[in-house]
Amino acid sequence: MKNSSKIILAGAVVVVGLAITYRAVNKAPDPSLPANEQMAQILNDGGCVYCHTVNPDLPFYASWPVASSMIKAHVEKGYQMFDIAPMMAALSHGETVNEVDLAKVERCVMEGSMPLASYYLAHWGSSMTDAKNGIALSWVEQHRSAFYPNPLAAEAFRNEPIRPIPDALDVNMEKVLLGKELYHDTRLSGDGTVSCASCHDTRMAGVDNHQYSDGIGGQLGGINAPTSFNAVFNFVQFWDGRAATLADQAAGPPLNPVEMGSSSFEEIAGKLAADADFSKRFLAVYPEGFNQQSITDAIAEYEKTLLTPNSAFDRYLKGDLQAMSEEQIAGYALFKEYKCATCHAGVNMGGLSYELMGQRSNYFQDREMNVKSGLSDADNGRWAQTQVERDRYRFKTPTLRNVALTWPYYHDGSVATLEKAIEMMATYQVGRKMSEGDIAKVKAFLDAQTGEYEGQLLTNINQQ
Ligand code: HEC
Ligand code: HEC
Ligand code: HEC
Repeated sequence: MKNSSKIILAGAVVVVGLAITYRAVNKAPDPSLPANEQMAQILNDGGCVYCHTVNPDLPFYASWPVASSMIKAHVEKGYQMFDIAPMMAALSHGETVNEVDLAKVERCVMEGSMPLASYYLAHWGSSMTDAKNGIALSWVEQHRSAFYPNPLAAEAFRNEPIRPIPDALDVNMEKVLLGKELYHDTRLSGDGTVSCASCHDTRMAGVDNHQYSDGIGGQLGGINAPTSFNAVFNFVQFWDGRAATLADQAAGPPLNPVEMGSSSFEEIAGKLAADADFSKRFLAVYPEGFNQQSITDAIAEYEKTLLTPNSAFDRYLKGDLQAMSEEQIAGYALFKEYKCATCHAGVNMGGLSYELMGQRSNYFQDREMNVKSGLSDADNGRWAQTQVERDRYRFKTPTLRNVALTWPYYHDGSVATLEKAIEMMATYQVGRKMSEGDIAKVKAFLDAQTGEYEGQLLTNINQQ
């Protein structure tokens, strides 16, 4: 045998050997294991748990000089972007995985972006093979259908990251009617000038279109008012999540000195009780009379009717393929490709997780440079509630339902147009520059989020 043939043969042996080893160490989980265990094994083998938890058990070489700084940076960035611990816990207890986590893992499996190359090159066995990808994606689909059933969607759209808004929720209609009156009642405010509707006008898509809202005595708040429409689908209320339910939320503004400025719910109850007609109707439903609990319960019940089903997008998901234009359909594909649908997921296209504002680029630094606006307390986001450093600048992801009508944008209300808000999301959250053409398509798709309220397409009286 010639020397060159020997080299070729030896090379071939090495390649085959590597291929066999690769297959052996990257073996997909045993198919006889329960689905959750297979998924957990894939995430463990993939090193996902190393880089996406707060205090990972790092391998021994993590203390070597070069490896140490690289691993530290990866773990820091990885954990900042995605905390996998709740998902791992849910997998081992058979509980529900957050829809946002499902969408994030699904997206990075589809892209093949995880684990990072630097990791799987050093960790044979962590690569995501076709077999593992297949198991992971079908696990996501099964989990969705078990925990987030989507009967409204057409068969082909059952497994989309976004689900249509239902036409109605079960409510107590008598409470709704009382709640509707209270929502529009300025007696909830100290000087009788402000109601919930002052800042969340249903004729203005549930917002006031101001950067900051005008409260009692012309005082200005420090954060943009989100819409009350579809708020029932948020996992918690407020940008920083400080209210667990709509009723908890409704207890806040009446006593907030810059919003409605009442001194106590006793004061409000006293004013309402003096209204003989309203009292009579209220007592028929709430025999205990006016108090914080009954008042906020009625308002929350009314808010469950502030739904906007049947947007063009929802009709499309339900199977009417003509409901969206070609541009809007292309916009939806981009919305998923740019990972927008990982955070803006679920029925409300948001409202399901806290996310760092500026995960790919420093939003607050740029804002200070461009708009000369320094940091405010409101910018701390979730941190204000937890004092955990990771939560600083983290906000509950806002809904994108009816977003064309709810300007200005972001928690600081600093962005006037939807185009700009989209472009900035690509920069700060996704780390990509979006072309004019793509922005226009995504904008067209977000225009398709305007739904129907009381059977009519939602409008905003401030719209030109
Ligand atoms: C070596 C550390 C490392 C490993 C291992 C790793 N990641 Fe990551 N992950 C990162 C870093 C760093 C980022 C952010 C930077 C990037 O996307 O390149 C990230 C980003 C992500 C994101 C957010 C993507 C986005 O753009 O929003 C998800 C989701 C994710 N990883 C899931 C996983 C999963 C699932 C696995 C296992 C298959 C995994 N990661 C393995 C370090 C890691
Ligand atoms: C002076 C203006 C103002 C008034 C009055 C007001 N709100 Fe708000 N509302 C806001 C602002 C600003 C926020 C955001 C505050 C934050 O997140 O810290 C908010 C948040 C909310 C949210 C949370 C939405 C989300 O996505 O997190 C709901 C629901 C809501 N308000 C309903 C009500 C109800 C019900 C009332 C009456 C009891 C009311 N608001 C009165 C300005 C107002
Ligand atoms: C990592 C999670 C994440 C990703 C990915 C993401 N967003 Fe957001 N989005 C947020 C958060 C958090 C906010 C609120 C930011 C703030 O108020 O400072 C937001 C705000 C918005 C707003 C303003 C809504 C309002 O009412 O103020 C729009 C519009 C938006 N996103 C569109 C997009 C688009 C389009 C994409 C894809 C290019 C995208 N987002 C990707 C988390 C995300």
